[in-house]
Amino acid sequence: MHQTIRPARGLLGVVELPADKSIAHRTALFAALGDGVSHLVNYPASADPQSTLACLRQLGVRIEASETGYTVHGVGLNGFSKPSGPLDCGNSGTTMRMLCGILAGQPFDTELIGDASLSGRPMERVAGPLRQMGAKIELTDGHAPVRIRGGQRLKGMVYRLPMPSAQVKSCVLLAGLYAEGETTVIETLPSRDHTERMLQLDVVEMNGERRLTVRQGRRIPRQAWAVPRDFSASAFFLVAGSIVPGAELRLPGVGINASRSALLDVLRAMGASITMSDERTYGGEPIADILVKSSTLHGVTVPEEYIANLIDEIPILCVAATQAKGRTEIRNAGELRVKETDRIAAMVKNLQALGADVEEFEDGLAITGGKPLHGAEVESYHDHRIAMAMGVAGLVAAGKTVVHGAEIASVSFPTFWEQLAGIAS
Ligand code: S3P
Repeated sequence: MHQTIRPARGLLGVVELPADKSIAHRTALFAALGDGVSHLVNYPASADPQSTLACLRQLGVRIEASETGYTVHGVGLNGFSKPSGPLDCGNSGTTMRMLCGILAGQPFDTELIGDASLSGRPMERVAGPLRQMGAKIELTDGHAPVRIRGGQRLKGMVYRLPMPSAQVKSCVLLAGLYAEGETTVIETLPSRDHTERMLQLDVVEMNGERRLTVRQGRRIPRQAWAVPRDFSASAFFLVAGSIVPGAELRLPGVGINASRSALLDVLRAMGASITMSDERTYGGEPIADILVKSSTLHGVTVPEEYIANLIDEIPILCVAATQAKGRTEIRNAGELRVKETDRIAAMVKNLQALGADVEEFEDGLAITGGKPLHGAEVESYHDHRIAMAMGVAGLVAAGKTVVHGAEIASVSFPTFWEQLAGIAS
């Protein structure tokens, strides 16, 4: 499917953001690992979180749709059953990497597969530490399909993350539930903290490091897990509302977890008008109502320590940079090359097609804003965040912009195109 976008004269309205993809995966996995019946409230219909539910069902977990979300009949740490075929994680790296941690501790063999994009993403970053714990895992040239041999005795360990990655951190901690003794993960550059927050793990912060520890056999109580609206989805509208003249958008009930929302700081440093009200908690996470109005932006250099915190928001930040006065530089972001697509290459190509002044580096990109954009045909590269970022870029490009492969937005935001059209004039 392709989507055509025309320049917007204004943007006005309220955006109903989807529930948070990252948190949703965890609610489903923790409810399945939990003791007894749990409820997932406001669980998203997006494709990635649905892939997690499908895999859990294949592992014998009863999951029923309910009025408010899903009811999950938790099986405890040791109640999964051997699936009859490979577990299909679709496009979802979080599903695959977190499941690897759980499946390494099961008594049966499993195989994890994914779509073409996921099958090109690095899996050694989880297989390596799991092998150190005693797991038997075979990859296919460093990628999925992943074959996990069951019945291994895992041993706890202290693992220092080589890159800031919440997926790797969570994978090792989940394996730690099955590993003799204690498992500690050390992070020097913090990554999103949903896993440790939701499981209420011991966190020690010392000498600029965070140490997270889990003990073998730690039980997860049954509970109601509520999923807040997705900050990463809000990012597209935070930028759209900042760069389209005469815009005013309201985004109610958005997750603003500090380990995920550095984009707010960066956009504000660029001059954006973003205000928050009614800050409260929902599902154990801080949320707020956000109001964004159009403003005049200027370029910034994004500090290295912000990169992990806003890694998923960089494609849309690049779009903001095209409208900012001066140069915006994003470096130390080589992780973008191993996301759903190579997001550096994808944004460089797409923004250049629109006439933007973009410079590519191995670990990032620099954009000099202010050059008028013109519509062009661009590609999603089968990446939801690239598709949505280019949809927003189309609002400020003269003429017609066509995003090919636009349907991929449904991985995290099934109503994105409808809502974008609904607020634009
Ligand atoms: C996620 C962590 C991040 C992020 C991804 C979701 C998570 O990936 O890019 O969209 O839910 O843990 P990494 O952990 O690989 O950085």
